[in-house]
Amino acid sequence: MSAAPTPPIEARNDKFAQQHADQFSSWLKTKESGPREDALAEDPNLVILWAGYPFAKDYNKPRGHAYAVTDVRETLRTAAPKTAEDGPLPMACWSCKSPDVARLINEQGEEGYFKGTWARGGPEVVNQLGCADCHDTASADFAAGKPALVLSRPYIDRALQSINKPFEHASRLDQQSMVCSQCHVEYHFAGKDKAVKLPWDQGTDVDSMEKYYDKIAFSDWVHPLSKAPLLKAQHPEYETWRAGIHGKNNVSCVDCHMPTIQNAAGKVYTDHQIRNPFDSFETTCVNCHTQDKKTLQDIVAERKASIQELKLNVEKQLVHAHYEAKAAWDAGATEQEMQPILQDIRHAQWRWDYAIASHGIHMHAPDVGLRVLGGALNKAADARTKLARLLATKGISHEIPLPDISTKLNAQKALGMDMDKLNSEKQEFLQQVVPAWDAEAKKAGRLSQ
Ligand code: HEC
Ligand code: HEC
Ligand code: HEC
Ligand code: HEC
Repeated sequence: MSAAPTPPIEARNDKFAQQHADQFSSWLKTKESGPREDALAEDPNLVILWAGYPFAKDYNKPRGHAYAVTDVRETLRTAAPKTAEDGPLPMACWSCKSPDVARLINEQGEEGYFKGTWARGGPEVVNQLGCADCHDTASADFAAGKPALVLSRPYIDRALQSINKPFEHASRLDQQSMVCSQCHVEYHFAGKDKAVKLPWDQGTDVDSMEKYYDKIAFSDWVHPLSKAPLLKAQHPEYETWRAGIHGKNNVSCVDCHMPTIQNAAGKVYTDHQIRNPFDSFETTCVNCHTQDKKTLQDIVAERKASIQELKLNVEKQLVHAHYEAKAAWDAGATEQEMQPILQDIRHAQWRWDYAIASHGIHMHAPDVGLRVLGGALNKAADARTKLARLLATKGISHEIPLPDISTKLNAQKALGMDMDKLNSEKQEFLQQVVPAWDAEAKKAGRLSQ
């Protein structure tokens, strides 16, 4: 690995509050990103499309880095483990949340880090996403205020090599986007220990990754209604940025999300308040564009609206496809009859998820977003055409009705999910288990008092 951090990695961000006051205080402002926004409440179709997978329980839009550990603890997706051995999720679910992950991989190797369930990491992974995620906090360069950028996640180093973009030979500009790629990428959990692996062996576009997943017959879960073996896209922002106009012109993530600014004394530094660049328009877009803020914002808003419209169309088709597939199974369809249909549903849903899980795609690569969603719509239509024919052979020619999925709660109820139970277990976990994790971490000196 390039520029391998030398032990010990300091994961406590506040240790650098004085030494690097500007960077620290701007980093801390990522807390200002505001309350969580519930994506399932905004669009209950998501509950049906992710049925049987943790995302159907709870999914919020991303917010500031300073909430990363808080939010992964509080989401219903991580459930309510009582002991270090309790599931359901693996250690890998901490991977994009904290500099403690960099510390643990450095101390125990990837093999040691990935072993076991998410709950095992509770008293270890306690500091919010920060300095040691992108810098070697143990280096002299860091102390001197001129830190290199580092990849603290070796699986990203390998993935970048696999697309012939090794980090150690990359320009500073390329490295500035690569540090973000440590987390803002598509990945899956591979092998017995569920280690993070990127599906980039054949490329980073939607078709290449689909080929990769199909070749190894990987699926994240089987949908309980249609029985389709599905893929859950994570958040392929690095991949879609690369394919967009800014990525192609080598405008890095940092150019827009971490501009260079001045402190009160006139000293130039990098703004670590990663947020929506429209909120720092004068130090970002203005560096390269002459249009005013409203003009650019309107362009981006228009693109967002087109993507949103197509996204909802795809969702409508896919929701119907899942229920029609269930009706076909119920009417006695065979595996052989269903196989090509389930493959269409898998490919449609993968395309849809790749596009919508790429946050900011309407800004980073709107053309890619529209093309990928267009592909999803085609595949979903293929599935539904085949389903209509198959259902007809079973004597079913009426429309398959949908249950009431008009709200998040109704959709969850339609799937038979016991949300009251999940919520009360989570509350108990947050009141009892989490404080014990923090106490243990403080005692061991891993979290500041
Ligand atoms: C998400 C990645 C990321 C995180 C997290 C991060 N930095 Fe940085 N840091 C950068 C980038 C990018 C630059 C500037 C560009 C470059 O060095 O190429 C930078 C630059 C710096 C510099 C050099 C001076 C400057 O302002 O350009 C210091 C010092 C620094 N960071 C300290 C910190 C501290 C302290 C923390 C934790 C509170 C932190 N960084 C967290 C990515 C990060
Ligand atoms: C260690 C993993 C990690 C790294 C490295 C990382 N991010 Fe993030 N980022 C996240 C996570 C996780 C969230 C969501 C946090 C939440 O919602 O609690 C997030 C959220 C964001 C958001 C949403 C902020 C908001 O206020 O809505 C932006 C923008 C962002 N990241 C950009 C970047 C950029 C640019 C870089 C590189 C300079 C970067 N990130 C590096 C993991 C990472
Ligand atoms: C040319 C400028 C630009 C570049 C380059 C850029 N972004 Fe963005 N990004 C934006 C803007 C502007 C938005 C907000 C769009 C909006 O208002 O809806 C955004 C949104 C996001 C979001 C979604 C935040 C949210 O709360 O939904 C994430 C995450 C993100 N960017 C990460 C990245 C990463 C990672 C990279 C590099 C791989 C990158 N961006 C490159 C301008 C940029
Ligand atoms: C470091 C320089 C740089 C920064 C910063 C930058 N851009 Fe750009 N932008 C470019 C380049 C280069 C192009 C491509 C121009 C071309 O090909 O004519 C471009 C093109 C665009 C386009 C037209 C692309 C298309 O799809 O038709 C829009 C819209 C745009 N930028 C918006 C933004 C916004 C909004 C921001 C701030 C969040 C921003 N840019 C920040 C360099 C930059």
